[in-house]
Amino acid sequence: MLSAEEASRTISPHTLLQARRLRDALPGDLAVLIEINGEWVQVDKTLQAIAGDEVGRMPPCVRFSTGPQEAIEIRRSASRYGADRSTLPILTLLADAHEQLNLTMEQLDTLADQTSHWLEESCFLRRLACMLDLTNGQDTESILDQIGDDLCTLCSAQSLVALGSSPRDDTQPPRTFGHPLEPATIEAILRWLPASPSTIIRNNRQELAKEIAPDTESILAVPLAYGDQCFGWFVAVNSRSPDGFGTVEATLLETTASVLGVHANNLHLLREQEQFLIDMVQALVSAIDAKDPYTCGHSARVAWVARSIAEHMGLDEATCHNVFLAGLLHDVGKIGVEDSVLRKPGRLTDEEFEEIKKHPRVGHRILRHLKRLAFALPGVLYHHERLDGKGYPDGLAGTSIPLIARIIAVADSFDAMASDRPYRKGMPIEKVLAILRSGAGSQWDPEVVDVFLKNFDSLYAVWQRHNTPQISYEDLTSPTRIPATEVRKPPQPQTEGPPQPANTPLG
Ligand SMILES: [Fe+2]
Repeated sequence: MLSAEEASRTISPHTLLQARRLRDALPGDLAVLIEINGEWVQVDKTLQAIAGDEVGRMPPCVRFSTGPQEAIEIRRSASRYGADRSTLPILTLLADAHEQLNLTMEQLDTLADQTSHWLEESCFLRRLACMLDLTNGQDTESILDQIGDDLCTLCSAQSLVALGSSPRDDTQPPRTFGHPLEPATIEAILRWLPASPSTIIRNNRQELAKEIAPDTESILAVPLAYGDQCFGWFVAVNSRSPDGFGTVEATLLETTASVLGVHANNLHLLREQEQFLIDMVQALVSAIDAKDPYTCGHSARVAWVARSIAEHMGLDEATCHNVFLAGLLHDVGKIGVEDSVLRKPGRLTDEEFEEIKKHPRVGHRILRHLKRLAFALPGVLYHHERLDGKGYPDGLAGTSIPLIARIIAVADSFDAMASDRPYRKGMPIEKVLAILRSGAGSQWDPEVVDVFLKNFDSLYAVWQRHNTPQISYEDLTSPTRIPATEVRKPPQPQTEGPPQPANTPLG
């Protein structure tokens, strides 16, 4: 049992003061007990600990503890304990204080719950915002798949159905997150949704059971829209909260729907821009081929071989694709070269050679104002530079020649030497390889030539496969590597045609 001395040490001065004031305000025969650690202590001039079984045999008394229920009990039963009118206000004050404390604790709990929920919402929206980066290539459906379950949980819904996910694609099937729904229930929800896009909150279980499905208790439907165009719905089904769905859940769904709508539209605009870029490259390649029918398909072959070299060098995918597009455009300057020079079947005079040597600068001038093609400029301007500084147009040497140009130079020279022209056969492959090997370090980057020679079987298969003047849309958007099974051996040497200079200006 708690000793009086121990009780006097344990009880807080504030509680003791309250208890003594209460004791002084009460009639003389009314005891005041304070609960300390589950034991009762009588408040008097000296504290007196009471044994558990004695408490029940005490005269009418007021039990005073820090628990709110005890305080309420004091007020309710004060008159039974003999408290007079002058005492009741004090007891009421005490009880009110405890009730207020209780209320404040409940408010704190509520606020803590709300803060926790807002924090979860904030983390969710932040994660969603990180996914909206258009450069990471994630489409809206993929983002939706990643956030759907969390969104369902944050909305306190048993299930979340997403109908449609893009303003321009209504073919996507409904996605369900959380607890799976029967197909018949989803179809019933689809039929139930109104034609006009506006948020709907329904928590009337009996009506919903008749309108949708027997197990439907509550519904929160938010339209997915961009501008005036409604392209789908978020439908939260059966709230886990006893209060049903409310404005908090509706606001979260509306915010998410709005963000996804903007993302879907931005993605569409970005793809339109990319399509425009691809169309433009296609048009320029067609123009080069039309201008120089003798080398028709040269741009495509160089692009593919250059890309393969870049892949074998371990360059990242974005760089490989840039090498590919730059390879397609490397000779775009030939559009500005006189037809009589460009189409001349025989050897060129010095003047004609000087004329054709202008094509890198002409190509650079054609493309330099197109910001989306800026990555191709080094390849266009410098693909005829030599490692020893004897190339053109600027006589750059070594690594001052951009890598993209050093790669294209090898692919360009290989195609110029190996491909057939109407007026001559291509050089035998062995001879082409020998020229490349001997020119490594003087004309071409030895590392690029080394990669080319070490991977020649694969590169030759690429070159053969794309020995066509046509570039397809798929080629421009998603170039793929040649499967190993398609790699073919180089052909046997053909009938040797007239020798061709290694750094042919026609390349
Ligand atoms: Fe060229």
